[in-house]
Amino acid sequence: MAPDEAEVTFAKGLEDVIVAKSRITYIDGEIGKLVYLGIPIEEMAKHSTFEETAYLLGHGALPTRQQLDEYSRTLVANRALPDTLLNMMKLFPPTALPMDVLRTAVSALGMLDPNPKDSSKEQNQLRSARLIAQFPTIVAAFARMRQGLEPVAPRADLGHAANFLYMLFGQAPDEFTARVMDVALVLHADHEMNASTFASLVTGSTLSDMYSAITTGVGTLKGPLHGGANEAVVAMLQEIGTVENAEPYVLNALKTKKKIMGFGHRVYHAYDPRARIFKEYARELSQRKNDMTWFQIGEKIEEVMIREVGRKGIFPNVDFYSGIVYHHLGIPTDLYTPIFAIARVAGWIAHVMEYWEDNRIFRPASIYTGPKEAPYVPIEKR
Ligand SMILES: CC(C)(COP(=O)(O)OP(=O)(O)OC[C@H]1O[C@@H](n2cnc3c(N)ncnc32)[C@H](O)[C@@H]1OP(=O)(O)O)[C@@H](O)C(=O)NCCC(=O)NCCS
Repeated sequence: MAPDEAEVTFAKGLEDVIVAKSRITYIDGEIGKLVYLGIPIEEMAKHSTFEETAYLLGHGALPTRQQLDEYSRTLVANRALPDTLLNMMKLFPPTALPMDVLRTAVSALGMLDPNPKDSSKEQNQLRSARLIAQFPTIVAAFARMRQGLEPVAPRADLGHAANFLYMLFGQAPDEFTARVMDVALVLHADHEMNASTFASLVTGSTLSDMYSAITTGVGTLKGPLHGGANEAVVAMLQEIGTVENAEPYVLNALKTKKKIMGFGHRVYHAYDPRARIFKEYARELSQRKNDMTWFQIGEKIEEVMIREVGRKGIFPNVDFYSGIVYHHLGIPTDLYTPIFAIARVAGWIAHVMEYWEDNRIFRPASIYTGPKEAPYVPIEKR
């Protein structure tokens, strides 16, 4: 029987509800701490690469040099997309949203799996490598197709992040640019029990399949309250336009209860440690590009927000400065959320595989607010 409202505690948005045990990522939102398998995000951003991070999340330990080389080789070998998918993508309208394209392409990869009914751990590890390797190829291929350009084939001598930029622009990035992209992927690779990870787990928990679980993740990440916030930040910066406009814009938004995108977080009530790292890259890139306007607008927004609502625990989150970084890398705005997905697919897969070790289907409850009894009125009498 469904519980009665008076008898239960109802956590709207599942706030603070524990849905799983996980050894992968830990957040202390009160002090703004984030660790992958115990390793602080600051260390990962300084020393690691996306490939190493994906290995860490998926295998539960940092790889040896040999393990990392082998894992990187597997990713490289799986980067190219099946021809069927490429041909399908050519039929997609050029006006399609890249997140919709990514969601549909991931789902299509499920149809192209050579062993769709084999749910063994070995097959899922193969799928994991294919998905992680192919996310950037899908995003870059569509970004070119919609401009009427041929997709650029992946280059085996480039790392994951550098190869993505190469496939996107048709030109290999310089070392600094490749490093910025790599750090962005490391920072976004996992984030504990967020909406898209939970959504992936729900699908995985029915013992559906890896592609269905990850397709769910992509669809969930798309929303502006989740991964879509980075695009919304850029729209806001464009609307504000000048540093002078920033303070009145923020004050007016707060007065009218409009949210400032890139601020606030369900878990962090302190400065998001990823935002701190992105902020420094945003500063450096803006200096290198000799274009400080957006960064200065961003700093002004941050100053006013912390002054006005910092006491409520509202600080910049990962999406606030990432938009400025991607803008200076020359990446079209509607690819920001797909880039988030390129990184987060590693986290989704790690969590789904972990959950399958001790699976139980998710089946929560709700409070029924409709009538308990009602007559069936024949249609002609309604
Ligand atoms: C992330 C987010 C969805 C978390 O939502 P949540 O935990 O449900 O928190 P709420 O939306 O209930 O906000 C709690 C309070 O903080 C305020 N608040 C939260 N985020 C805010 C923001 N970005 N700007 C202004 N006020 C904000 C709310 O108005 C609310 O105030 P109130 O208690 O006076 O009504 C929310 O902060 C948000 O919408 N942020 C903007 C979108 C974004 O950047 N998302 C990316 C997250 S990584």
